[in-house]
Amino acid sequence: MLTLGVLVSGSGTNLQSIIDSIEGGSLDARIAVVLSDNPRAYALERAKKHGIKTCVITKKEFPKREDYDRKAVEVLKDCGVELVVLAGFMRILSPVFIREFPWRIMNIHPSLLPAFPGLDVHRKVIEWGARFSGCTVHFVDEGVDTGPIIIQAVVPVRDDDTPETLRQRILQEEHRIYPEAIRLFSEGRLTVEGRRVRIKDGRFCEGVLINPTVRDE
Ligand code: GAR
Repeated sequence: MLTLGVLVSGSGTNLQSIIDSIEGGSLDARIAVVLSDNPRAYALERAKKHGIKTCVITKKEFPKREDYDRKAVEVLKDCGVELVVLAGFMRILSPVFIREFPWRIMNIHPSLLPAFPGLDVHRKVIEWGARFSGCTVHFVDEGVDTGPIIIQAVVPVRDDDTPETLRQRILQEEHRIYPEAIRLFSEGRLTVEGRRVRIKDGRFCEGVLINPTVRDE
């Protein structure tokens, strides 16, 4: 069984989707620890409700990024973590951390990478006038939101969307693709070849999306 360490900073709805998948039997994994940089993150309450060990490491305790990351690595290794899952963790990890878990760190980002990396994504998507957005689960490399892509989900952008309505639509899909990506990893079905992730026996989507739809379709 795969041992996970989940890193959070906020509400933890993605953490919840992973917990639910494990408890529902569709993901053969255990969460050894939920680690947060924010002592007030609601994600910590979610973990505690399910009897999952929590750990808070604040920036105040370790102001230097490398020191912070060394401490986080120590906690995760002590818990026997095999896959690090970033679920709304709002810190950038340094090479000190990333080199300890080669291709063993996943992140979820609320856009169709490589479009709209970084922060304040939904506002930027709407301002740009994109007709589609979505979410991406990817392996973490030493760049920001640049690592090899595992799964993406696409959602339409509507003319009347606000950043909040778009965020909600995308979040629902995040909750579907993140547990699935972890499941593929746990089944040993992911290999990284250069920039690409190969999925053994992947079931790939067919068909085309057009938004707004073409007349008479
Ligand atoms: C999610 O939308 C996730 O994609 C995003 O933070 C949110 C966390 O929500 N992550 C990033 O923007 C990372 N750059 P949650 O705490 O409810 O899972």
